[in-house]
Amino acid sequence: MRSLALLGSTGSIGTSTLDVVQAHRSRLSVVALAAGRNRDLLKEQCLTFRPRCVSVGTKEDADWLMAGLPYRPELHWGAEGLLACALHPEVDTVVAAVVGSAGLASTEAALRAGRRVCVANKESLVVGGALMHEAAQAGGGELLPVDSEHAALHQLLSGRDPASIREVRITASGGPFRDWPLARIQAATIEEALNHPTWKMGPKITIDSATLMNKGLEVIEASVLFGLTADQVAVTVHPQSQVHAMVGFHDGSYQLQVCANDMKLPIQYCLLYPDKQPGPVAPYPWDEARTWTFEPPDLDRFPCLGLAFEALRAGGTAPALLNAANEVAVAAFLQGRLRFWDIQACNRETLARIPTVPAGSLEEVLGADGAARRHAEGWVQTRT
Ligand SMILES: NC(=O)c1ccc[n+]([C@@H]2O[C@H](COP(=O)([O-])OP(=O)(O)OC[C@H]3O[C@@H](n4cnc5c(N)ncnc54)[C@H](OP(=O)(O)O)[C@@H]3O)[C@@H](O)[C@H]2O)c1
Repeated sequence: MRSLALLGSTGSIGTSTLDVVQAHRSRLSVVALAAGRNRDLLKEQCLTFRPRCVSVGTKEDADWLMAGLPYRPELHWGAEGLLACALHPEVDTVVAAVVGSAGLASTEAALRAGRRVCVANKESLVVGGALMHEAAQAGGGELLPVDSEHAALHQLLSGRDPASIREVRITASGGPFRDWPLARIQAATIEEALNHPTWKMGPKITIDSATLMNKGLEVIEASVLFGLTADQVAVTVHPQSQVHAMVGFHDGSYQLQVCANDMKLPIQYCLLYPDKQPGPVAPYPWDEARTWTFEPPDLDRFPCLGLAFEALRAGGTAPALLNAANEVAVAAFLQGRLRFWDIQACNRETLARIPTVPAGSLEEVLGADGAARRHAEGWVQTRT
């Protein structure tokens, strides 16, 4: 039996994780749930799963939950609450599904405490990659990737001699603007950018998919997780989102990982690893006719992907700078304070202006994150 802390339980990954738990009640139990502002859904989840430890965004919401629940869990709030859930003594597995670098400290602490950490929160790997490995090594924690492309790579690379591998390729759906001319992309609206063709996800990652920043963050994530250089990670656009990743060998051949585009599959992969059990997703429907297409990404129309490769090559705190600028720019776009095309401009400007330094400690990384956020916020204000 695995005992879970689910951080970000009210989000897209969080609710899919609870669907996987429901399908495996004899193998998975929920000890702790943490969310931000959606106290109504969190309350419903508490009534269904009866976690012993619960965290919400504010003390006021924690008091509201305490008054409304028919049992007495440990109640926490804010950043400390995420840590309390991740480090609860009965927890052996943490699902890190908070969005943004707000998930960094709890992911790091859970790895340092020797937990299995199923990381959906790619921003924590992008911002603090080397630190996450160091924490896992120091504390005996195990890091498993929930992102579909990285769960695919984890399966493809398992047991492989690294010397036989020439490159890995992650696929991108291309987002809602894959076929759009540049001028139309530049003027895209919030509604158009939120209209993802193949995945149903939270708003931040959906905008990142429209700019291809999401794929850029995933390139950095792949480099961090599997110890690959920028030259060993490539991106192929595959609009059907059925092939999730490929591994290319020195002899010119490739292996691909295929499954339905349903996040419950990689979530279950991480939770039950190394077991493969029947779950909530049906086997792939090979008897239905279908067409798959593949094409290279266009870095002129999607410059955020190129910026991610630049940051990866620069190393140190550069990925943290890019991620922080992007979080600020996407939030401003979703608030109607920035145009779609300004997201890439804000990211480029911040990466160019804030000096990159070695990412030796959590403090240095958080310092870079803060400096980039302040710079990006100032830049946004000049545009509004
Ligand atoms: N969705 C996908 O298919 C997918 C696929 C691969 C990777 N990911 C990654 O998984 C992460 C989550 O994505 P998502 O799509 O599930 O996002 P989402 O739907 O926006 O959910 C985010 C979750 O994080 C919680 N949260 C946000 N800030 C918080 C804070 N400061 N403290 C505590 N909780 C906080 C939210 O709580 P409230 O809603 O209660 O405020 C919510 O539960 C992201 O890093 C994303 O890149 C997502």
